Amino acid sequence: MVQFTLPKNSQIKTGKTWPKPEGAKNVRKFQIYRWNPDDGKNPQVDTYFLDMDACGPMVLDALIKIKNEVDPTLTFRRSCREGICGSCAMNIDGINTLACIYGLDEISGDVKIYPLPHMPVVKDLIPDLTHFYAQHASIMPWLETKTNRPAKEWKQSIEDRKKLDGLYECVMCASCSTSCPSYWWNGDRYLGPAALLHAYRWIIDSRDEATGERLDQLEDPFKLYRCHTIMNCAKTCPKGLNPALAIAEIKKMMVDRAV
Ligand code: SF4
Ligand code: FES
Repeated sequence: MVQFTLPKNSQIKTGKTWPKPEGAKNVRKFQIYRWNPDDGKNPQVDTYFLDMDACGPMVLDALIKIKNEVDPTLTFRRSCREGICGSCAMNIDGINTLACIYGLDEISGDVKIYPLPHMPVVKDLIPDLTHFYAQHASIMPWLETKTNRPAKEWKQSIEDRKKLDGLYECVMCASCSTSCPSYWWNGDRYLGPAALLHAYRWIIDSRDEATGERLDQLEDPFKLYRCHTIMNCAKTCPKGLNPALAIAEIKKMMVDRAV
C-alpha cells in the first residue's frame, strides 16, 4: 500500500468557534479554512455564525460580513463583486467557483469554504497563482503580427469574431485548472485548462500570424497531451466556458497539420 508522509504542520485541525450573533433568529453556520504563514501552526477550520436576515445573498457577502463584523483577520481576495475580475475564486461546498456570484441559497446546510485545491496557500483563502500566471504568459497571450498590420482599427468579419465567443469571456480565475486531476499531478509541466483555453483563443484569432509557432510550442507530451478529457474544467467553470473543447480543438489542429 502506498504511504504518504505529509509535510510538517499540514494536517487541518479544528479551529476557533466564534460567538453566535445575539438575538438573531435566522442563523447560519460557516466553516472556513484558516492558515497563517507567520504563526507556525497547522491550518485550521474556524466556525462562524451569521444572522442571515442581515446578510447579502452571495457567499462573498457572507465573507465580507465576517471580516467586517466578526473577525478582521480573515483573508481573501475580491474586487469587482460581479464575476469579472476572477479574484474571488475559492472552493465552496466542494465546488471551485467565484464567491461573488455563488448564491448562499445554492448551498444546503452549513457553508464550507476552502482555498482552491492543490495550490500553495499564501494565507487563508488566497492561493499562490504565480505559476498559473507564468503558464498563461508562456502561451503568448497577445496578437503576434508580422505583416498587414493596419495603421488603425483592425476589423474582423462577423464569422471570425464569433470564433472567439466562449473563449474571450475567461476571467482567469483558475477554478478549472485547480479542479483538474491531471493538473494536480502534473501542474509543473501540464499547462492546464485555463492556459490552454487562452492558447486556443489566440491560435484561432484571424488576425494572428503565429499559428505555427504557437502549435510548435504546445506540441509536447506534457504541456497539451496531459489533458485526458476528464471534463472537470467544463463542469466547474463559473463563466459556463468549456476549456476541454478548446483543448480538443488544439489537438485536432495538431493532427490536421501532421497529415
Ligand atoms: S475557463 Fe472558466 S474556470 Fe477556467 S479560468 Fe477561465 S473563467 Fe475561470
Ligand atoms: S470579486 Fe471579481 S470575480 Fe468575484
